[in-house]
Amino acid sequence: MQHKTIDELLKSEKTHIDVIVRGWVRSFRSNRFIALNDGSTIKTLQCVVDFENFDEEILKKTTVGAAIEVAGVLVESQGQGQTVEVQVSKLTVLGEANPEDVKLTILSPKRHSLETLREQAHLRVRTNTFGAVMRTRSKLAFAVHEYFQKNGFNYMHSPIITGSDAEGAGEMFRVTNLDAKNPPLDENGNVDFKEDFFEKETNLTVSGQLEAETYAMALGKVYTFGPTFRAENSNTSRHLAEFWMIEPEVAFNDLDANMDLAEDFIKYVINYALENCADDLEFLENRLLEEEKNKPQDERSEMKLREKLRFILENNFKRVSYTEAIDILKRSKPNQKKKFKYIIEEWGADLQSEHERFLVEKHFKSPVILFDYPAKIKAFYMRLNDDGKTVRAMDVLFPGIGEIVGGSQREERYDVLKQKMEAMDISTEELYWYLDLRKFGTAVHSGFGLGFERLVQFTTGMGNIRDVIPYPRTPGNAEF
Ligand code: 4AD
Ligand code: MG
Repeated sequence: MQHKTIDELLKSEKTHIDVIVRGWVRSFRSNRFIALNDGSTIKTLQCVVDFENFDEEILKKTTVGAAIEVAGVLVESQGQGQTVEVQVSKLTVLGEANPEDVKLTILSPKRHSLETLREQAHLRVRTNTFGAVMRTRSKLAFAVHEYFQKNGFNYMHSPIITGSDAEGAGEMFRVTNLDAKNPPLDENGNVDFKEDFFEKETNLTVSGQLEAETYAMALGKVYTFGPTFRAENSNTSRHLAEFWMIEPEVAFNDLDANMDLAEDFIKYVINYALENCADDLEFLENRLLEEEKNKPQDERSEMKLREKLRFILENNFKRVSYTEAIDILKRSKPNQKKKFKYIIEEWGADLQSEHERFLVEKHFKSPVILFDYPAKIKAFYMRLNDDGKTVRAMDVLFPGIGEIVGGSQREERYDVLKQKMEAMDISTEELYWYLDLRKFGTAVHSGFGLGFERLVQFTTGMGNIRDVIPYPRTPGNAEF
């Protein structure tokens, strides 16, 4: 007899077939009805036992959280809420779960807060919420690959350990196997990294972009999808120290083509989730409604979760220059009434998330792509505009999230790039290979980075980024 998942069985057209199912007990009512979940779907399978005919010891061990195997017949259900159920002929307890311990953990029927569950990251995925989030995350990851593979991109594995602090995108985590207590020192008393494993200083990467650029300039269209690391001390609901980033890079694309790609890509993956995660998104939508009941009216979302997702699909992202945005912000009520923490006084100001969210949520009420930022507040590699003061940068801003994508058209002119690196104190020696790219068949090219967890956050409606990654790493927290 074939072992089937609960998802397969619930979709099965055939009944009156023998089945074997394994999973974890969600509830056991009246010594008769077991709600079984195996992670394949948010739904549970009702397994009906005639307790009169079963060993009492086994029934006693059939407690919430226990792993069991049932053998029986799949039949149409008499009860409400499910179309099929299993009439159990054999029940085996594979792994017990002590009810007293269970009460203290997430498996308790009593609701635990998301915060408490974070302390039990090894068990929280047994809850409906985290099961739904993690299944959706998996589908989104697949959709990312599907989108790029269908569109002629090559998946490029950029290195995790890097020898250059390329980006200046954030603080880096050092990779070393030197003895922390007794490191070798050079003649000036500094740690001598020539003695280290790689014979130089190395770090965990903050982005695969620079390496992806070299591959785009040979393979044409590439994308990376891997973990990136930032040692910024930002304890927010949108920052992780370890997060996954997707970075497409395309030869011959200018900034407009880059914006088109970002918009098309995001719409594709969100649509994929809507089509393939229906049960989980329905659950998450209701979860969000419940959560928001505790909030004041004006802080609640105007749209339900799936409405919000459909809204993204059906509307063009509003494309707005930085200069225009600054004008809007300067004239805005919260700026004039000094409600912003950072008041926008003049052109050149860096935008904080309060400003980004004002533009998206209050002013435009749609996703926004801001472009042509001041060169001073953006990375060295972005292409300088003819005005000499702005660069071809773009950020995609989403409601509730703020920045979900950051990207740019890259500076392809050798002299301009070199000058800029020198002005911004970026080592041209260390990045000789990046400059070389501008010497051998240089061309216009563009790319961007999408923070995968922010995408999962948006799609699932989870308020905190720590709740959309299996084992969050944040300042002071690397448990498990
Ligand atoms: O804007 P960022 O720093 O851009 C880059 O790293 C470029 N090299 C990308 C490129 O052009 N190829 O980061 C890109 C995105 C952000 O928009 C955000 O969604 C996400 O990565 N991100 C983070 N997500 C979670 N935690 C953090 N600490 C993040 N920092 C950035
Ligand atoms: Mg950015």
